[in-house]
Amino acid sequence: MSIAEPVTVVAPIKPVSTFVKGLDGVVAVQTTLSSIDGQRGILTYRGIDIHELAEKARYEEVVYLLWYGKLPNRQELAGLEARLAANRPIPDQIITTLRNTPDNAIPMVVLRNAVSALAMFDPDGEDISPEATRRKAERLTAQMGTILTAYHRLRHGLEPIDPDPRLDHTSNLLYMLTGDQPDPAYVRALDLYQVLLADHGMNASTFTARVVASTQADLHSAVAAALGALKGPLHGGAAEATMRTLFEIGEVDKADAFVDNAFKTKRKIMGIGHRIYKTGDPRAVHLQKYSQSLGERRGEVKWFQILKEVEQAVLKYRQLYPNVDFFSSTMLYYIGIPVDMFTPMFAASRIAGWSAHVIEQYDDSVLIRPQSEFIGSTEQHYVPIDERE
Ligand code: COA
Repeated sequence: MSIAEPVTVVAPIKPVSTFVKGLDGVVAVQTTLSSIDGQRGILTYRGIDIHELAEKARYEEVVYLLWYGKLPNRQELAGLEARLAANRPIPDQIITTLRNTPDNAIPMVVLRNAVSALAMFDPDGEDISPEATRRKAERLTAQMGTILTAYHRLRHGLEPIDPDPRLDHTSNLLYMLTGDQPDPAYVRALDLYQVLLADHGMNASTFTARVVASTQADLHSAVAAALGALKGPLHGGAAEATMRTLFEIGEVDKADAFVDNAFKTKRKIMGIGHRIYKTGDPRAVHLQKYSQSLGERRGEVKWFQILKEVEQAVLKYRQLYPNVDFFSSTMLYYIGIPVDMFTPMFAASRIAGWSAHVIEQYDDSVLIRPQSEFIGSTEQHYVPIDERE
């Protein structure tokens, strides 16, 4: 009887799907965190409409909702607030690094570096269990504001202000920035901003965080990568770019001509348009309202009025609407956030969503690894260096 030849089993290669530029419309993950209906302009966190959360929820409640899948009861909320308060101070070594950072550094770069460095101090180290990742998320959420405000003060020759454990998350942020007891109107506006920016489907930075988490790397690696993705003007950098556009326009009666020229020269108008929302971004409604009232309160409503002119002028050309960054720009400006700290403020809000997605991704444990379509020539050969042109 002859012995059968060993059979080599080759796993079938899955058929390659058609190339989709920018992954537009491709569903890469399943999530229970946020849902977006771009046609009808609906956003939910854990099934709760963003309009309901905008009116009623505080940022800490939304953080809990995203991380634990339910709104916290009083005891659970108090527990989270106490842990955030305990975690808000940053290690002395990070403060020393901030002291040695150039005064003209980009705050987003400072934040990204500090987040990477915090990984070296985190007591949960490489542990990627849900419990350890939530503890790390609590530390990062608590500490981002401390890092940013400390750096901002140091670059202006001022000493950092220690967080006040009696103040809530948002009040602390403003208190550490200025040293003054924060005005409740600005606290409310900034808290709302953070609620609105806490999560948003498979945006570029969240996708980045999930790709890193899919390799089973730690939360700090995922967040550092997400910060890199958020930094660009087509994503989180758009609010700062919008504010700089407003400075460039300068006056309300110059907005129309600016937009005309932008369309003629194919210059993109920052804060306008969205990959998913085609009829308007639901978050813009709230940001617009607060932006206008804070502008009036400050006696500087001009910047808000320029935005409104730009919004109307754009509609003469195309059905493009303001996205979240459009009215965020003036709202953060009126609150007193330095313009180059707009994107870090976005990050300090989105940390809630990034962490929740990382926990969800670990649970799925699938490596995210798409394919590329090679469109170069395959008829090439190695040419010895002396024979090259
Ligand atoms: N200003 C001028 N034209 C714009 C525009 C803007 N802000 N946003 C989109 N368009 C144009 C595009 O150039 C495109 O024109 P075309 O059909 O002649 O090529 C058309 O509108 C459709 O664009 P769309 O397919 O909806 O854009 P997208 O999905 O590829 O890109 C953004 C979405 C967000 C990247 C894009 O709108 C943009 O760059 N906006 C400005 C940056 C910004 O605010 N980013 C923050 C997003 S939350």
